[in-house]
Amino acid sequence: MFSRFHKNKINLDLKPGDKHYRSFIGPPAKYDLVSAMQFNLLTKYGLRESHKLLDIGCGSLRGGRLFIIYLLENNYYGVEPEKWLVDDGIHYELRKEIVRLKKPSFSYDSDFNFDSFGVEFDFAIAQSIFTHASAEQIKNCMHNLSKVASKEFRFLASFIEGDKNYDGDTWVYPGCVTYTMDFMEKIICEYGFSCKKTEDLHPNNHTWLLIENN
Ligand SMILES: C[S@@+](CC[C@H](N)C(=O)[O-])C[C@H]1O[C@@H](n2cnc3c(N)ncnc32)[C@H](O)[C@@H]1O
Repeated sequence: MFSRFHKNKINLDLKPGDKHYRSFIGPPAKYDLVSAMQFNLLTKYGLRESHKLLDIGCGSLRGGRLFIIYLLENNYYGVEPEKWLVDDGIHYELRKEIVRLKKPSFSYDSDFNFDSFGVEFDFAIAQSIFTHASAEQIKNCMHNLSKVASKEFRFLASFIEGDKNYDGDTWVYPGCVTYTMDFMEKIICEYGFSCKKTEDLHPNNHTWLLIENN
């Protein structure tokens, strides 16, 4: 039994981006905190077990390990280009038995395609995704979300607010990019959504956006 869980006893000196399922997606010392934050945030904004949730860039299921257990079966959908992260998250954090019971769905995609699930979503989360994405990727994400969002859709997305807008056209990792609030609001509202900054705190000083279907 012990050997199955040994990977959880990781070196907390591993850096974000290092190839371990916990450190690849952020500081390993905050893995549990960032799990709890995502779960608390979404339930605060109305997520209930009957809702369908899209977890954009779900990584090693840092949030997914709580969402999957909480939601009713067939209600969790994760998109993640790095399949090994999802596989390790299932193996070390969840167990196959939970997956059999709750039937989460995954897509291993890097183009922000969400319609392959054939589902209309009530909620979405992008925790530390717009912190690495180009403006074109964010626009593509919003465009594709507009095709799968329910009428009552709510989307919580974190970004790093700064004076400058990242003007590159590629994903930056493990480094981060910044955008101004005005810029984020402009590109998100182009796709028929409303967007406002929330007062919710983040352990890595991201700003949370609440994005809703108009
Ligand atoms: C900082 S991690 C955040 C993981 C997860 N959202 C969380 O907070 O636990 C960023 C994640 O985005 C994934 N990613 C990279 N490119 C992506 C893309 N084009 N679309 C969606 N996710 C992407 C990375 O593989 C990584 O798992």
